[in-house]
Amino acid sequence: MKILFVCLGNICRSPIAEGVMKNICVQNNISWTIDSAGTNNYHTGEPPHKYSQIVCQHHGIDISSQRAKRFVAEDIEKYDIIYALAVDVYQEISLIAKEKMNEKKVKLFLDELYLNENKSVIDPWYGTKEGYYPVFEQIKMCCE
Ligand code: 4NP
Repeated sequence: MKILFVCLGNICRSPIAEGVMKNICVQNNISWTIDSAGTNNYHTGEPPHKYSQIVCQHHGIDISSQRAKRFVAEDIEKYDIIYALAVDVYQEISLIAKEKMNEKKVKLFLDELYLNENKSVIDPWYGTKEGYYPVFEQIKMCCE
């Protein structure tokens, strides 16, 4: 199984999802490929946001070696499931993927918890460090 988590910048939300899911896989002896990407390239090559790193560290998860990369249309073929962390991200994925878009593979992440409620993981980018903790908890609950 190959899973890709996608947000806008690939520095706040999807790196947490990648770190949490990889941790779940390690703890359960599951050999899945877990990766993340962003629909914009504003932060390509950068490590995750310091608050995402701190929140993950707080839970024993080291995401410091991740580097932001941009989602590309070919990722639709490369992965089995592509999780959009938010509704606007889903729309961006569709625009980037064009004819490669596959609605069976591209899913809204929070549909796994709240099917058809069209929910997004709130973008903590514009807030304070405190905003990253509930984001972590929601992502963890959904990954589990
Ligand atoms: P993310 O948060 O999508 O969770 O990584 C963002 C990070 C940066 C920007 C937007 C969202 N930005 O516009 O630079």
